Amino acid sequence: MTQSPLAVVALISGRGSNLQAIIDAAADGSLPAVIRAVISNRPGADGLGRAARAGIPTTVVDHTRYPDRAGFDAALQQAVDRYQPALVVLAGFMRVLTPDFVAHYHGRMLNIHPSLLPRFRGLHTHERALAEGATEHGASVHFVTDDLDGGPVVLQARVPVLAGDTPERLAARVLVQEHRIYPEVIRWVAEGLLRMEGGQVLLDGAPLSSPRLLGAQ
Ligand code: GRF
Repeated sequence: MTQSPLAVVALISGRGSNLQAIIDAAADGSLPAVIRAVISNRPGADGLGRAARAGIPTTVVDHTRYPDRAGFDAALQQAVDRYQPALVVLAGFMRVLTPDFVAHYHGRMLNIHPSLLPRFRGLHTHERALAEGATEHGASVHFVTDDLDGGPVVLQARVPVLAGDTPERLAARVLVQEHRIYPEVIRWVAEGLLRMEGGQVLLDGAPLSSPRLLGAQ
């Protein structure tokens, strides 16, 4: 059994709506986790205000103040490790992380990505889904590895692409699902159901060979 409640540090860059979903789930008792800190690489990130309103300590590690990626990541790692998290969650964190940083948090760092991975890794997923004429789209929670947006996917939720969709409308539909699946996966970690050993994800003691799918609500 993992420590209870699970100690989490969240990394953000902006709006922080996924962070808010995690804060809310921890507050309403459905997620046995304590968010020890929220760290942003952008001083003006709206998510910092959400954290402050929830009484969560915040730190800014401004990437523009570091000469290179390695220097930034070393400072970020120090800021994260001050809080000794069992789990690091990337919640709209928009920086590519160095292999050293990723290795340091191997098996204890999650990301949420607004597509049905392995489709549409990287940026502008909603625009790309529409441009390709996809009939469905969605969101994925995955363990972070060196392979950008390519680590093992744990849970996904699908949404239909509707006639007349714009990237904004599609993004909003996907975001509703993001807010469901991220707290859910963190809960699995908190309850000791989910872990990654080597490159293998174990859910409830069994290897996870394909992502779980969260049903429609
Ligand atoms: C989300 O769509 C997330 O999947 C992506 O960036 C966006 C962040 O939104 N990685 P928010 O900051 O959580 O509101």
